[in-house]
Amino acid sequence: MKIFLRIAAIAAITILLALSSLYAASQWRLAQHYDVPLASLRIAPSTTLVAEGERRAHMFGCTGCHHEAGNVLFKAPGVGRLVAPNLTRMAPLYSDAELVRLIRHGVKRDGTSAIAMPAAAFSGLSDEDIAAIISWLRTQPRVADAEPARTSWGPIGWFAVATGRVPFSAERARNIAPPLQRPRATPAKQGEYLVQSICSDCHKLDEENDNGWGMHTPPLRMMGQAYSLTDFHTLMRTGKAMGDREVGTMSKVARSDLSHMTDKEIDAIHAYLNAAEGSDRVAAAPLSASNGR
Ligand code: HEC
Ligand code: HEC
Repeated sequence: MKIFLRIAAIAAITILLALSSLYAASQWRLAQHYDVPLASLRIAPSTTLVAEGERRAHMFGCTGCHHEAGNVLFKAPGVGRLVAPNLTRMAPLYSDAELVRLIRHGVKRDGTSAIAMPAAAFSGLSDEDIAAIISWLRTQPRVADAEPARTSWGPIGWFAVATGRVPFSAERARNIAPPLQRPRATPAKQGEYLVQSICSDCHKLDEENDNGWGMHTPPLRMMGQAYSLTDFHTLMRTGKAMGDREVGTMSKVARSDLSHMTDKEIDAIHAYLNAAEGSDRVAAAPLSASNGR
């Protein structure tokens, strides 16, 4: 009997030690600082940009993830809960330059990394687009949190954080020089910009993508080429895929975010995905899919 008690005690102590070191490792990861200098925009936010800013906050997915006042993006027992917080509460705490750094580099005000902000997609967002979005954010009155809970992790989440299975936005950001304005030389160039800034959060250009959170997406170029321009517009505007199909997350994201694109923007994406080799087709740089939602 005594020996069993001793084994049980040793097992319990081992499990406790393992859990506490997992916890410690995850906290160490979450507290890590990223040294990215603040930089201001070359286009100042202004009241004339507010209406466009609202539209762009939709098409680039800010409202799709954050909703009006906060939203749970992921929740599973033992793993944890990922909350995109209420922007009307968070944005006023940030200076413009701090927002720019958060959006492009995934670094929060306190220098730690945001989790699951699509920094890889947003690193190349133009000053013009970000200035418009900030202009709109600055007009938003504070509303009460729709989601009282905050991001938190359980034991499986500690493991996932400690072993790099949770997307740390600051580690996925691309170190590139962002443009002042979107490229407008040709529709295909603008399309490339939009695909990188929006679609690449979930899709790769020429490969299937598995984001690790259970979302699988088809290769974008192939899909874009299978779609006539009319069917492509229908998908972007209504979420209905060719043959009048509902296609899960894609249908939802089309209705909530992508439907806010202009006809010209939708044309541009289709043009980019269908551009002939050697003409406008921009080198198939691997799109860095960052994460899901
Ligand atoms: C894929 C979903 C997603 C998209 C798209 C997204 N966010 Fe977030 N955002 C998050 C999550 C998740 C957090 C919380 C991160 C954390 O807790 O570390 C967050 C955090 C924030 C914060 C608060 C940071 C803090 O200090 O806690 C702000 C401000 C913010 N996002 C602004 C934006 C803006 C502006 C856009 C659009 C340009 C945007 N987000 C797009 C998911 C998203
Ligand atoms: C939040 C993630 C997400 C974003 C952002 C996203 N997609 Fe998707 N997309 C998906 C998923 C998931 C599927 C697979 C849907 C299925 O088959 O269940 C998909 C499928 C598709 C399909 C194939 C639909 C079919 O016929 O089966 C096309 C075309 C497509 N996406 C285009 C785009 C374009 C263009 C963009 C950017 C403007 C984009 N997607 C942005 C998640 C996303």
